[in-house]
Parts: sequence; C-alpha cells; structure tokens
Amino acid sequence: MHARTPIIGGNWKMNTTRAAGVELAKAVAAKAAAHPRVQTVVFPPFPYLIPVGEALRAASSAVGLGAQDVYHADKGAFTGEVAPAMLSDCGCTWVLAGHSERRHVIGEGDDNINLKLRSALHAGLGVVLCVGESLHQREVGETNHVNEKQTRLGLREVTPAEMDRLVIAYEPIWAIGTGKTATPDDAQDAHRHIRAVVKDIFGTEIASKVRIQYGGSVNAANAQALMSMPDVDGALVGGASLKPDDFGAIIAAAAARA
Ligand code: PGA
Repeated sequence: MHARTPIIGGNWKMNTTRAAGVELAKAVAAKAAAHPRVQTVVFPPFPYLIPVGEALRAASSAVGLGAQDVYHADKGAFTGEVAPAMLSDCGCTWVLAGHSERRHVIGEGDDNINLKLRSALHAGLGVVLCVGESLHQREVGETNHVNEKQTRLGLREVTPAEMDRLVIAYEPIWAIGTGKTATPDDAQDAHRHIRAVVKDIFGTEIASKVRIQYGGSVNAANAQALMSMPDVDGALVGGASLKPDDFGAIIAAAAARA
C-alpha cells in the first residue's frame, strides 16, 4: 500500500534550447494534467527556468519548476553561482542537491552538498538529495554503506520540520545514462535501507513520510515495476524526461501503482 504521493522529476541536465525547453514544458504540462495525484517537477538548465516557468503558468499547470544546482550563500562575490533566493525569484520551488554528475564530474563533496541543501531548505525550497553507489562500490558490497553515509552527511543539521520539503533520490551511478537499471528488488533493498537511516535520524513518522525516488535509466517500460516496490515513491528521470511520450508514460505508471 502506497500512502505517499508519488513524485516524478524530469532532470533535463545540460539539454534543450530555450525554444525546445518551452515546447517540452508545454508537452509535459499536457501529459501531467491527466494525473493530478502525481507530483511532477521539471529541472531545466538555469537560463531556461524563467521561460519554462512562464510556459507552465500559461498552461495553468501544476508541474513544479526546479533547478539542477544552487550555491549555499545568499549573495556576494561568487562568480558563476546562483543563490537560493534567486531560484525562488525565478519561480523555482525545487532544487537538486548532490546529483552524481555534480559529485563525480564537477567534484562536489558531502560537506558542500549539505551546505547547499540546508541553505535551500532555509530559503523555503524543496530539495531532492541524490545518493547512490558506483559500480565498484556495489561489487564490493558497499552499497548500503555508501547510501547511508551520503544520506547522513547530506541531512546533517536538517530540522524535522524541514524534512517535509526533502525528497531523497537513490541513483546508482552505474545505472545513470547507461541503459542499465537496478532490478526492482535491488532498488527496494537500497530504498528500505535509506528509509531505515532516516528513521534512525528522525524517527518513525518522518521516515514513513519521506519520499524516496529511484533514478537511473528509468523509462516507459521499466517504470511500473520499479514503482510497484513498497519503498519506491517515484522516479528521477534523465534521458527519458526529454521525450514527452516516454515521460508521460512514466507519470502514468506512477499514477497506476497500487
Ligand atoms: P537517466 O538519468 O535517466 O538518463 O539515467 C537519471 C539522472 O541522472 O537523474
């Protein structure tokens, strides 16, 4: 029985043009409108946040707008960075923190991710904290250890009240953009462990409410089986989020789960 509202994120990464992003947003708004019980959020590149937000508003869409990254300071001499309040000012209500591409391509560490996450929560944004193990870590049996560490360090000094706006995305690195997906059972094992970590930190009630998305090569064909698992509360979707029909099918799969 799934008591938690499913949440589907479309992480566009460094893709689309301004015009293509606006068209994609309109198409996502149309698909999502059929499934009001699913919370849908799109994460366009920074320069397209405003036009995508305008397109969603013009369609009277409930689809949320999120950014892919944020800096932890309010303002100042941080060339190239974007503050949480700037994201709110551009219509964002969500932001990703600790996506594996930021951890492993850009080089962000857990302390930095925790600073971002807390400053975004303080500013009133919802945050998706991404965690997940590498192939090597999985092969040597460290999956739960890595997820636990990233979850504990990411959530350090977060208050119980802020957990209302916090979503966790379990994204095994070896599954991202590779076409390899965790099996539903592997995803469930990792999600169950992450929820137990949240329970250890915040107690039973918050652990039972926190939503944990799966991410990593989610597509129209595998979404339903993944989201039928008891601790899988949605999906964070990369490649398939750029294709409205596929993304729409993933939203529909979230709506259809038992
Ligand atoms: P993918 O990306 O769906 O293309 O594997 C998922 C993600 O990185 O959030």
